[in-house]
Amino acid sequence: MDAKLNACMGAMKYLKDGMVLGLGTGSTVFHFINLVGEEMKKGKKFVCVATSFDTEMLAKKNGIPIVSLDQVSKIDLAVDGADMVAKDYVLKGGGGALAREKVVDYFAEKFLVVIDEGKLKAKSYPVVVECLPFAYAAVIKNLEGMGARPKLRTGGGKVGPVVSDNGNFLLDCDMKITNAKKMEQDINSIPGVVENGIFTKFSKVIVGTETGSREL
Ligand code: 5RP
Repeated sequence: MDAKLNACMGAMKYLKDGMVLGLGTGSTVFHFINLVGEEMKKGKKFVCVATSFDTEMLAKKNGIPIVSLDQVSKIDLAVDGADMVAKDYVLKGGGGALAREKVVDYFAEKFLVVIDEGKLKAKSYPVVVECLPFAYAAVIKNLEGMGARPKLRTGGGKVGPVVSDNGNFLLDCDMKITNAKKMEQDINSIPGVVENGIFTKFSKVIVGTETGSREL
């Protein structure tokens, strides 16, 4: 079976009827959203906050009610993917949803990271930085001063910079991570930076394999 699906199946045991859920973004969490939809068809009730337009559309297709963050007093459980996993941090932002993801994932009482086994092999991944379009040149200079090699993300289907769901630019930064917590804070202290893809606060990583899942 699909390792991404198995990772999400492993997360299902943390799901309790009536929970407020934070739904991450990406091809791994895709399966979790479908599984939540199936549970709802069986009669369970959930209210969810989505971390991207993509997730919101998929959730709605599955009959999952989506509310905004100001309509809930807490999030019980957030489930989200990652691009790279280290001991004390994970890197996210491959799908460009890192800013909303960090808001939702960090606000949740429990935040589960779901990955397929292949992600454990990744030794490096860019630190993704979302910044105000107005500020991007200054942010790049500041990041270079921190030893990073930032690249403005451009994409298929559109000429020019990729624009996030929040109307911002994304910088993919090749940089060495030494003290993840400090770097997470230091990058966010650059004026014009909205958020970065270093996530140092999570409850568990669930790794899916072809035959099942395990927790780190
Ligand atoms: C989006 C993300 C995703 O969670 C991350 O890129 C993992 O995606 P996938 O599950 O498709 O590999 O951070 O901003």
